[in-house]
Amino acid sequence: MTDKTASLKTTSGDFTYPLLNGSVGPDVVDIRKFYGDTGMFTYDPGFTSTASCQSAITYIDGDQGILLHRGFPIDQLAEKSNFMEVAYLLLHGDLPKQKELDEFSYTITRHTMVHEQLATFYRGFRRDAHPMAIMCGVVGALSAFYHDSTDITDPQQRLIASHRLIAKMPTLAAMAFKYSVGQPFLYPQNGLSYTGNFLRLTFGVPAEPYEINPIVEKAMERIFILHADHEQNASTSTVRLAGSSGANPFACIAAGIACLWGPAHGGANEAALNMLREIGTVKRIPEYIARAKDKNDPFRLMGFGHRVYKNYDPRAKVMQATAQAVLKELNISDPVLDVAQELEQIALHDEYFIEKKLYPNVDFYSGVILNAIGFPTEMFTVLFAIARTVGWVAQWNEMISDPEQKIGRPRQLYVGATQRDYVPVKER
Ligand code: ACO
Repeated sequence: MTDKTASLKTTSGDFTYPLLNGSVGPDVVDIRKFYGDTGMFTYDPGFTSTASCQSAITYIDGDQGILLHRGFPIDQLAEKSNFMEVAYLLLHGDLPKQKELDEFSYTITRHTMVHEQLATFYRGFRRDAHPMAIMCGVVGALSAFYHDSTDITDPQQRLIASHRLIAKMPTLAAMAFKYSVGQPFLYPQNGLSYTGNFLRLTFGVPAEPYEINPIVEKAMERIFILHADHEQNASTSTVRLAGSSGANPFACIAAGIACLWGPAHGGANEAALNMLREIGTVKRIPEYIARAKDKNDPFRLMGFGHRVYKNYDPRAKVMQATAQAVLKELNISDPVLDVAQELEQIALHDEYFIEKKLYPNVDFYSGVILNAIGFPTEMFTVLFAIARTVGWVAQWNEMISDPEQKIGRPRQLYVGATQRDYVPVKER
């Protein structure tokens, strides 16, 4: 808390509220007593001015284009770290010592297998089901398979559930892919890295050994690191809201996956690549820029704009460099990358995008890389979900341990009918 306060003049009197200050970032007006004092609610659809919780995990300065995990800049983590280390950092608050990292990686690796009965669950889905639809179902179903880690009042069970979720997501995601192409499910291999194991589960077949391309493995590490957490975004807030009622962690993460699926959130990577393919050539870019600016056209440049970043998304910078490197190393010449780079340049110099502070976000280039690696577009958001599971469980654990945590229960501005009497159907 600071000595500073915020005062509010209303028709029923003047009220003063304390200002809370974090370690960095804007001060926050503590309005918890507001309704009790004034009998009024605050109105903030989309929570554009509302801090819903305290958190020590991730900090974003959207104006400066800064993203810190537990204080460490995202570009340093993407360059120097690996996904297991970042997962430990987000969950436990600091970079692990070698022994801690080894133990953590060992634990995650030993939880990658899923209950054998879960495979039959997949067979109930249509082969052409969207893998995100399958993920919503199977991750929710984990609570039925791992009931021994659903007591949220037990810190040990919470930790085991967190490890299980991080470890099993790649296995479940690869199974969703294998099911869609009619190939047998593979079992994880403990000697491989988190990403190497996922690549083999996805692209390997039982008939021959799978060779992991180190460039692809490194690119996947980066993509996972860049998507690991992003403070109180829509899906993370969904996980917290679901968890605030005391729901078990598997159900909460399934809720987060459902929210992530939307094209305004995690579904944007799939939508961005589809858009780039539809544009097809550099010549057609002006047509699409004009459509994006037309108020009467619902079209938006997918992978552009962000609720928080009013500057270049720092993740998009790393993603752009990774896209160029992966395509070069794999010797792929994809016109989609040319379209993306030219579109970015045109948009960055266009008055509409400058004025509205619309920059490429993390999803603008990720699809180009994932496409080059061989993932079908429907899998893009699933990969996002694998990585974001780390952030979701870290935020969920933080919320459960927070003594100020309450069930999330917003109020409303009611604009419907006032009280009226029931009329029997024949008299209407
Ligand atoms: N293309 C064209 N115009 C845009 C775009 C875009 N991608 N994004 C925003 N605008 C315009 C809006 O039309 C609006 O204009 P107006 O003020 O004249 O009405 C203005 O910019 C502000 O847009 P809002 O929708 O009010 O901003 P908000 O913060 O609510 O939305 C969002 C952010 C959803 C990300 C939006 O920019 C968007 O739809 N982008 C495309 C989808 C996308 O890439 N999503 C991924 C986000 S990152 C992630 O989830 C990992």
